[in-house]
Amino acid sequence: MVGILSAAAVAHQSPTVLLVAVGALFLLFVAHRLLFSPLAKIPGPWFTSITSLWIMYHEFLGDRTVILDALHSKYGDIVRVSPTEVSFNNAEALKDIYGIKSNYSKSHFYDMFVYYDERNTFTSLDKPNHTAKKRLVADRYAKSYVMQDAVAEKIQEHAANFMFQITKEPNALDVYTWLHYYALDCITNHLFGSRGTSTLTKPDHRELVYDLSGVKHRTRLYMIFYFGSLMSLRERIRSTWRWILGNSAQFHVRGSRLNDYGKDSVVGFRTGELEKDTISTCAKLFKAVPNNDNQVAAECMDHLVAGVDTTGDAMCITMWRMSTPEYSHVQDRLYEELKSIEHFFDPVTGTAPIGELEKLPYLDAVIHEGLRWRAPVPMTLFRVVPAGGANIAGKTIPAGYTVGCQAYSLHRKEDVFPNPDLFDPTRWLAKDPHQLSAMKTHFWPFSSGARMCLGHK
Ligand code: HEM
Ligand SMILES: *[C@@H]1O[C@H](CO)[C@@H](O)[C@H](O)[C@H]1NC(C)=O
Ligand SMILES: *[C@@H]1O[C@H](CO)[C@@H](O)[C@H](O)[C@H]1NC(C)=O
Repeated sequence: MVGILSAAAVAHQSPTVLLVAVGALFLLFVAHRLLFSPLAKIPGPWFTSITSLWIMYHEFLGDRTVILDALHSKYGDIVRVSPTEVSFNNAEALKDIYGIKSNYSKSHFYDMFVYYDERNTFTSLDKPNHTAKKRLVADRYAKSYVMQDAVAEKIQEHAANFMFQITKEPNALDVYTWLHYYALDCITNHLFGSRGTSTLTKPDHRELVYDLSGVKHRTRLYMIFYFGSLMSLRERIRSTWRWILGNSAQFHVRGSRLNDYGKDSVVGFRTGELEKDTISTCAKLFKAVPNNDNQVAAECMDHLVAGVDTTGDAMCITMWRMSTPEYSHVQDRLYEELKSIEHFFDPVTGTAPIGELEKLPYLDAVIHEGLRWRAPVPMTLFRVVPAGGANIAGKTIPAGYTVGCQAYSLHRKEDVFPNPDLFDPTRWLAKDPHQLSAMKTHFWPFSSGARMCLGHK
């Protein structure tokens, strides 16, 4: 009788016992992370020692970059973001992490940019793989390459098409959309030669800009990053369904129209233009990897994705800023400068040779300031600390941890860019060589080192 009673009491109490045990373990885990985690001593909000959920929440919300910037303002140049990530915000860290000699890999964040199941220049993670892939395409973006007549004339033609739209709609033009069309035409023509788009003059393919730039992607991209296996299971099912319907079965985070366009262009190019075209990126790639359409398509797709939004956004934000009344003085000064080379402008197309434009200091300052003020890629470029660990800007970080810098914060360091919220091209015309050199070191819209933007010239 007593035995039965005590057994009942234990059974009755066991949920409480279990709860206490779980609670104790949880506290132990929290205490362990707070005290002994390798990042415990790095400045940052205490809860970032314990959980990644907080930063994840801001990633899904879309304000990670500004939140991180606020952390840098509060805690300094080195901040713990999560139990496994540290953000840096100084020139020393830039050199240590992204320097030409560094051997950091990209993090798995970049998996979300893998197209047609093939890694390429942008998505290869480690240094040896990256070097091999970059070698295949880098020459197509050398300045001397882009400046040769056959390439430069094509770009000028797109610029002329854009100018024509402006004259056609003298009162108002949706420059965001039209500049993205311009970027799309420039890049696809460089990639696929005559198979490139002509969205500035024809409505075909204009929907690709939505696939490339739509806001809808953020959540989906982060879902893939954090819940990769779940998302790929879902995709297997959906791609089987697409295959049953006779559509392209491959998964593409940005939408099947873009996916199909990329693959169709490459297959079409191989069967159509390969013999005639020697200057496009596609032609070069087919020589290097003749029997792998997916590899060629994946490489081209990444240049497309890398080149359209960035270029379109950069031009749009700078034009918009100058168009508002408070900044009309910038527009006026630029206009005066351009007028000084009036005789170089083609009256029909409204374009001037790049070689002449390049010599204009104020135009250069305006472009620099636009890229600084609203960097098209403002976010952390995630890297992984290599085997053996590393010393970054004086802090020891163990191997395997995620580190990075973000242009957004580098570009608003008060001591380098006084009054950073002000759009002021004249800051780039500063006479003080120390000031200028500090500005150049912290100007980071294209990243730096071996993985710097290929499109930057
Ligand atoms: C204003 C325009 C542009 C900006 C601000 C920009 C910015 C960047 C940045 C920040 C990176 C480094 C990304 C990372 O490490 O995660 C990058 C890489 C890259 N960009 Fe650009 N980009 C621009 C235009 C272009 C254009 C026009 C192309 C060519 C079609 C291009 C092709 C690439 C490629 C292929 C990479 C990968 C390089 C590598 O990993 O070796 N970009 N870009
Ligand atoms: C760089 O890292 C890769 C792995 O990511 C490794 O295979 C290679 O040996 C490393 N190179 C050097 C010089 O440490
Ligand atoms: C990198 O290259 C090696 C061979 O050099 C290969 O085994 C490995 O799978 C590659 N890694 C990635 C992520 O592509």
